[in-house]
Amino acid sequence: MDAERLSICPSILAADFLHLERELARVKNADMIHFDVMDGHFVPNISFGPMIAEQVKATSQVPLDVHLMVSKPEDFIPEFAKLAPLYITVHYETCMHLQRTLSMIRDFGVKPGLSLNPHTPIQVIEHVVPDIELLLIMTVNPGYGGQAFIPQMMEKIRLASRRLEGTSVVIQVDGGISLENTPRVVEAGARAVVAGSAIFGSDDAEAYIETMRAAGLKASTQLI
Ligand code: DX5
Ligand code: ZN
Repeated sequence: MDAERLSICPSILAADFLHLERELARVKNADMIHFDVMDGHFVPNISFGPMIAEQVKATSQVPLDVHLMVSKPEDFIPEFAKLAPLYITVHYETCMHLQRTLSMIRDFGVKPGLSLNPHTPIQVIEHVVPDIELLLIMTVNPGYGGQAFIPQMMEKIRLASRRLEGTSVVIQVDGGISLENTPRVVEAGARAVVAGSAIFGSDDAEAYIETMRAAGLKASTQLI
């Protein structure tokens, strides 16, 4: 395995929305801005949609990473695709015709991501591996920021990493991630980490991101 750069993806769900421009400036060294879309149906919470994403896009140079926690992702993909995010990620649990939805994202010129709830087994990706560029392993139940990492997800990341060896699919983890557990998720196989409260709750978000990235690089170097 090569030592790889760890992608740091701050989730703006944890940002101060009255000062979003200032918050985005605090994370300008991030690899992607993670944009959590919640519909109050698939998850018990409502966040924001394409209108806010458009403003984020206009304010930050950092590419967008759209995480759709909505019951009907197909209804939202065209609007988000217009903003040319790096990834649009949909949940396995919301897609009756998953391969079709992933192809729809690719047809818009965006990299398709697939997300799994904590209880969804890794085996469900088997027949869509060629259709995805990113696998998002939820390490909390989606819906809220600030929840605790579910420890048994560590084994799930390892299983995903084994299954995806030799492919270019990036494993991303989301929920309860901080500097403290970053080395362990990287050792297990994650190459992109989402962090909301840890990054935006720190005094110096930019420095926190750099430290996370360095910790990730160190952990992956030790694996070689
Ligand atoms: C949870 C969201 C996460 C969340 C992460 O439903 O998908 O992206 O914002 O927040 P933290 O890092 O605070 O757990
Ligand atoms: Zn998310």
